[in-house]
Amino acid sequence: MKKSILVFVALLGLASVSVMADEGADLYKKCAVCHGAQGEKAALGKSKIIKDLGVSGVITALKGYKDGTYGGPSKAVMKGQASPLTDAQISAIASYIAK
Ligand code: HEC
Repeated sequence: MKKSILVFVALLGLASVSVMADEGADLYKKCAVCHGAQGEKAALGKSKIIKDLGVSGVITALKGYKDGTYGGPSKAVMKGQASPLTDAQISAIASYIAK
């Protein structure tokens, strides 16, 4: 009995990870226009290559654009992109980009 509960909990964990990955892919679609399908382009010729930032780098940048603590000369572009995102959505996007 105990064992089957453990298996169930493990499966739930797996399911939520894959939902997060799908959500990240979905949310990233509108970012790809500027950052490239794999995060490999400098957006508008200005941004860093975001796939090189790593999960925590992307999270720091997106949260920073939201609250005004991060960014370069073109940060207004990204404030509009990052502001509607929840923390959970930011994590999902970050793990998608870093893959
Ligand atoms: C209209 C084009 C455009 C779109 C769409 C866009 N970005 Fe950006 N992004 C930029 C620009 C330009 C910068 C550099 C801004 C600055 O000066 O700080 C940037 C910077 C970033 C950075 C930090 C990199 C650095 O240079 O420090 C991250 C991370 C990022 N964007 C992620 C995203 C994500 C995730 C999305 C989708 C939700 C997105 N961007 C959508 C143009 C765009």
